[in-house]
Amino acid sequence: MLYIGIDLGTSACKLLLVDEQGTVLREVSREYPLDFPKPGWSEQHPEHWWQAVCTGIPELLQGFNPAQVAGIGAGGQMHGLVALDEQDQVIRPAILWNDGRTAAEVEYLNQTIGKETLSRCTANIAFAGFTAPKLLWMQRNEPELYGKIRKIMLPKDYVNYRLTGVHCTDYSDASGTLLLDVEHKCWSREICEICKVDMAWLPRLYESWQPVGALLPDVAEALGLPQSTVVCAGAGDNAAAAIGTGAVGEGGCNLSLGTSGTIFVTSRRFGVDPNNALHAFAHADGGWHLMGCMLSAASCNRWWCEEILGTKDYAGEQADIGEEKLGRNPVFFLPYLMGERSPINDVTARGSFVGMTMDCSRADMTQSVLEGVAFAIRDSFEVAKSLGLTITRSTLCGGGSKSPLWRKILANVLNIPLELPQTEQGPGFGGAILAMVACGAYSNVEEACGKLVRLGGKVQPQPELAARYQERYKKFQELYPALKGVFEHLSK
Ligand code: XUL
Repeated sequence: MLYIGIDLGTSACKLLLVDEQGTVLREVSREYPLDFPKPGWSEQHPEHWWQAVCTGIPELLQGFNPAQVAGIGAGGQMHGLVALDEQDQVIRPAILWNDGRTAAEVEYLNQTIGKETLSRCTANIAFAGFTAPKLLWMQRNEPELYGKIRKIMLPKDYVNYRLTGVHCTDYSDASGTLLLDVEHKCWSREICEICKVDMAWLPRLYESWQPVGALLPDVAEALGLPQSTVVCAGAGDNAAAAIGTGAVGEGGCNLSLGTSGTIFVTSRRFGVDPNNALHAFAHADGGWHLMGCMLSAASCNRWWCEEILGTKDYAGEQADIGEEKLGRNPVFFLPYLMGERSPINDVTARGSFVGMTMDCSRADMTQSVLEGVAFAIRDSFEVAKSLGLTITRSTLCGGGSKSPLWRKILANVLNIPLELPQTEQGPGFGGAILAMVACGAYSNVEEACGKLVRLGGKVQPQPELAARYQERYKKFQELYPALKGVFEHLSK
């Protein structure tokens, strides 16, 4: 049988057709626009996601027998607020995970309601991108639209709703709403009351691998799929990526260099970061994880190359960055183009280049972008280590992992070996694995990962280079504290 994995990303929807042995038979990608209506705001139209799925699936199936498709599973960008009215129509564009408009609501939740209450009820505190602060923002700024809300859901849940007609979500994605009691895997009545969220609006909760329904008849016909195709609940993209790279069970670790940059550490037991710098979320294997998320990772390189240098030749831009330059770059880049989430939680932080001189080259600046992202991931890595987590290796996925230079920089900045899965499409592959479990091809997620995830290359840190990067990292660590007050001042 065949399975479709959907990665509902921020810049594109990537679809994978995978067989039961884990071979990726075909990939199709559909880009869609991302709107920044004001500085620090970030929105997308749910209809674009749906159109990407509707046009992408028939192309994915060309040359294959659609009757062989048994299941669909999606990993989706997390935290985005999709609000539907009485007729299940989308009320406004979705407010995305990297949107920073909710500073006042985050302040209210963390200071007035209090971090202790939030952490006791949900295992997390408020961050600007989380869903609950966005609901408060709508209440205060768009009361008429807020009054129309009858259902809320997350991005991949909207796609699942259009596929099946079912209002559903899974525990991993629901964890990022700040409305879920993550430990007990149920919606938190207390936080819903505080945020004035009617619990009838909330989707039904499932484990990621559980089937939520079959395709609606007209959708099955339009997509050319059997109506019996099982749709599973799916997962937040980071949890799906962890499944797709085999980071499951106890002590697994996956790094993702996508639009966001994340470090994802798995556990069979529920646990919270006492300082709430890392998110404590449910995992798509039935367990839990701690995660650090930086808001702009591969997107910094994309911005630098495409918007500033005007090129899509990413490899060409990196060609002049020789081994001798690594760990010796005088230029630093702070990657806070959308503010920052983990670990500094600062919506006013901004991207910055520091340290240029007259002899600074285009290549030095490109290198500083790659290094700045790696240093910012190390910030979350350090938080994880300070909690006593031992991370001796990690898998790496996401678009940025295609660059051999960036992989080398990251392995040396973190000073751990990085293993590359055969497909860097972590969330889509994870989605397909979840669909296989939903259809009974494997009895549980860990077993499926054990049989299906194949690792390819490995990048080893080099002691001398790692030592040089250690010195550079110490300097990088001084920059944000020095600029914090300036960022705050500039934001006023
Ligand atoms: C995770 C997060 C991002 C998005 C990106 O908390 O906000 O990684 O899921 O798609």
